[in-house]
Amino acid sequence: MYYPQELIDEVRTKNNIVDVISGYVRLQKKGSNYFGLCPFHSEKSPSFSVSPSRQMYHCFGCGAGGNVITFLMEYENYSFQEALKELAQRAGVALPEIEYTQEMKKAQSRRMQLLEINREAAKYFYYQLRSQRGEAGLSYLRKRELSEETMNHFGLGYSNKTGDDLVRYLKHKNYSEDLIRDAGLCNVDEKHGMYDKFWNRVMFPIQDIGHRVIGFGGRVMGEGKPKYLNSPETEIFDKSRNLYGLNFARTSRKGSFILCEGYMDVIAMHQAGFTQAVASLGTSFTAGQAVLLRRYTNEVLLSYDSDAAGVRAALRAIGILKEAGMTGKVISLEPYKDPDEFIKAMGAEEFQKRLDSAQNSFFFELDQIRKEYDMGDPEGKTNFHRAIARKLCEFSEEVERENYIEATAQRYQIGFESLRRMVNGYAIQNGLARPVERPRPSTAQRSTAQDHAKKRERLLLTWLVDQPQLYDQIKKYISPEDFSEELYQKAARRLFEDLEKGKVDPAAVVSMFEEEKDQREAASLFHTRLEKVDSLQEQEKAIHDIVCAIKQNSYERDSKALGNDMDALARVIAGKKLLEELNKTHISLQSRKQ
Ligand code: UTP
Ligand code: MN
Repeated sequence: MYYPQELIDEVRTKNNIVDVISGYVRLQKKGSNYFGLCPFHSEKSPSFSVSPSRQMYHCFGCGAGGNVITFLMEYENYSFQEALKELAQRAGVALPEIEYTQEMKKAQSRRMQLLEINREAAKYFYYQLRSQRGEAGLSYLRKRELSEETMNHFGLGYSNKTGDDLVRYLKHKNYSEDLIRDAGLCNVDEKHGMYDKFWNRVMFPIQDIGHRVIGFGGRVMGEGKPKYLNSPETEIFDKSRNLYGLNFARTSRKGSFILCEGYMDVIAMHQAGFTQAVASLGTSFTAGQAVLLRRYTNEVLLSYDSDAAGVRAALRAIGILKEAGMTGKVISLEPYKDPDEFIKAMGAEEFQKRLDSAQNSFFFELDQIRKEYDMGDPEGKTNFHRAIARKLCEFSEEVERENYIEATAQRYQIGFESLRRMVNGYAIQNGLARPVERPRPSTAQRSTAQDHAKKRERLLLTWLVDQPQLYDQIKKYISPEDFSEELYQKAARRLFEDLEKGKVDPAAVVSMFEEEKDQREAASLFHTRLEKVDSLQEQEKAIHDIVCAIKQNSYERDSKALGNDMDALARVIAGKKLLEELNKTHISLQSRKQ
């Protein structure tokens, strides 16, 4: 962090969050908070809340949250420094000019450094494309019918023909060789040393949902292999957890998303007004990406290539979407290959028609299965009907199954009753209709215990902010080290210090973290609610149980870590004693102490 914490806090406290956010979102006062439509995901009823007392915002829909600085970072796509600068100006606070020395760069966190070097590279490519040397790139992109505005919007660039100019440029900007290499921007070989990874290609910067550049795709201009060269996975570039275009699509408010395969497809669709389009990153669609999409929508329209590989990919994606609890529909682009070509040939209106008539993914699957059977042959036809019937058994809910039997019967001209009998026959045979066992996405599997632990810790921190009088009762038992993650510990430490002084400022905790991702998580620490606990006794019991569970968890962690660590041993012994005492202690929500 370049600026002292006090200065950051000063800027923050001089900008009332309600005033700032009101400039972007129409807010309405309800009780002590303000509510509005969330600017970070598409919704029809307001779940975005701004709290003047906490100076924080939180969306109950998509989980976005933070303080006034975070808001500008998320909304305006600013870095922490940029957001701070704007707010300082707004409040008339003078910020000292800061020269970025190599030392300061080193001191930055590793992720921040990688993000910064990627951003620098993107700026470089961007500039190249618009310079004389970039003419070939520019004319290629124009030939592909991209407007200047679109190129700027997506930050498109060009890596020129010189073999090492980016490397030299980055070194000149004081980035270390290690960092350039770790960011995947160069190749190294014994004979030539470090040279640029991307060479004579038009460049597509890949951005995360906060618009930060995390990698690149580079396309040859014409024929040549590989057609697209992509950044390798790095510490900031996880291809299975990002989607191209999501930074724009997430605020598109179109109700559903369009999922496709190519960078160019996304760009062509956005240019034609379909800003809800996203693409996977040169790899197939993953469960992690489905989880990401589910934050914003329940319905995904697939717009994959119409060739055999595209159909296979679509079938895979349908399965993944289903597992994540979303519905998929399939857009037919016939006779064109991909959305880009379709839109070029037919225009946006025709494309919209294809969206409107997107096919239910179940029938898309059946149509594919149908191709495997000879429908002219009675036996082939019967076998197809059997396959359909088996597939219909996958609907475990009776009403849904009946509806699909009816629609399927109509569609393939099969008698409704006979199809139904067939389905029920299979259902009985297989001990159905029980839900099909599907493996849960791996993220869900791993999480539970740790998730529960973290939720308890968030609850405690939320309570401490809401009801600071609790602090005196628990401080003997719980210390920041009892929290299970570093971010939680850091947040707890600051909050406990504040509570000790008798003034809580959760928004300040958020600003201890420079990255939006961490800020979002820090913000969530103060917005956790327990479902339906009514009476005071119930609440007190819940608090007691949660404090005990946190201590227990911490105690177990320490015990596990016991090896030769004498400190841990001391903590375990002390922890055990406290735990026993805590179990017998009553925690009161009335403000006087017991
Ligand atoms: P396609 O081969 O379908 O290309 O690859 P496209 O999107 O239609 O591209 P244009 O229109 O010819 O420019 C789809 C996606 O697969 C990945 C890229 O992400 C691409 O956008 N891909 C393709 C690669 O990563 N490497 C390749 O060599 C080819
Ligand atoms: Mn294409």
